[in-house]
Amino acid sequence: MDIVPLDFAAEPGRLAEYHALAAGWMAPGPRIPAPLFRLMTERGWRAMPAETWLALDDDRVVGGATVHFPDRDNTHLALIRYLQVDLGHRRRGVGGALLAHVAGRARAHGRAMVLVEVAEAGPGEAFLKAKGARQVATQARRVLDLTAFDAPERQVPGYRLEYLRGRTPEPLVGDLITLMEIMNDAPLDDLAVEEERWTPDGIAAFEDAWDLTHQDVFTVVARAGDGSPAAFTRLFADRKEAGGWGRQTDTGVVRAHRGRGLGRWVKEANTTWLKRERPDLTRVITWNAVANGPMVAINEGMGYRLLDVWHEWELRV
Ligand SMILES: CC(C)(COP(=O)(O)OP(=O)(O)OC[C@H]1O[C@@H](n2cnc3c(N)ncnc32)[C@H](O)[C@@H]1OP(=O)(O)O)[C@@H](O)C(=O)NCCC(=O)NCCS
Repeated sequence: MDIVPLDFAAEPGRLAEYHALAAGWMAPGPRIPAPLFRLMTERGWRAMPAETWLALDDDRVVGGATVHFPDRDNTHLALIRYLQVDLGHRRRGVGGALLAHVAGRARAHGRAMVLVEVAEAGPGEAFLKAKGARQVATQARRVLDLTAFDAPERQVPGYRLEYLRGRTPEPLVGDLITLMEIMNDAPLDDLAVEEERWTPDGIAAFEDAWDLTHQDVFTVVARAGDGSPAAFTRLFADRKEAGGWGRQTDTGVVRAHRGRGLGRWVKEANTTWLKRERPDLTRVITWNAVANGPMVAINEGMGYRLLDVWHEWELRV
């Protein structure tokens, strides 16, 4: 077995083999379409340095690992985005060899630790325990049955909603940065990560990636009476290969505006909008830190139901 780097431009066939291997890694959640997989393996949403290493057996891809190296914040970390071994080749040391290789690459990039997320009680968890990793955070996935979802139209006195489909218009970029940085308030459990900061260039690069990967993005912003941004939420759906899935991503309420029902209001309004605009979708998936009581309560109240639990693991290198 050899471990070789993937050259994205020169080796579309190998990328396709790796995609076939890893596309269902979040099952029973949505399958990752090829353009999104390429983005996530080549550079990620935030366009950071990344490497993909493939395990080849007789010139066939039998495993692969993708690792990201944050370069604006969190420069002490290497993030494993995928580490996958073909079902027929497991328990033969392929995963161990890939992990050891990635750990070496992390050291070469001056990183002190590797983080990776895996489903509870699956093979990944047994593997990471065997490798001496430490569990540092817990997230749950929940699914909303969109066909049964129905929220009454309502108002929150003193606030109004703004609906944005697709890219952020230039005059609103500053507000979006304020809102996206609220995500730094989400609970981290025992994760040793720094806050993420956004710039207008960073937002533009993130949104360029939506176009590249055919993402249909729905954002609802709540504004206070003086026009300042108070809350936001965002839903994604693939334009071409959604497979019936919408994906709930960020939701945040500016501290001074918490406790007034804005979080649930923006989420319900956005979900109602998504359901109307995208009748091909039947369900929405979301991830939350288990420790994030307020967000989990909103989701349960909207009808989201638990799908499974994932843990983040830390490996010191
Ligand atoms: C996790 C995964 C990458 C392991 O790949 P692999 O090639 O089978 O791993 P290795 O053969 O190197 O296993 C090394 C050790 O991990 C442990 N291990 C791996 N899979 C295990 C399982 N299913 N049950 C119990 N222990 C397991 C064992 O201690 C094993 O050593 P042993 O076979 O000598 O007992 C593979 O199962 C996989 O692709 N799973 C789905 C994706 C995933 O969870 N990825 C995240 C990985 S961090």
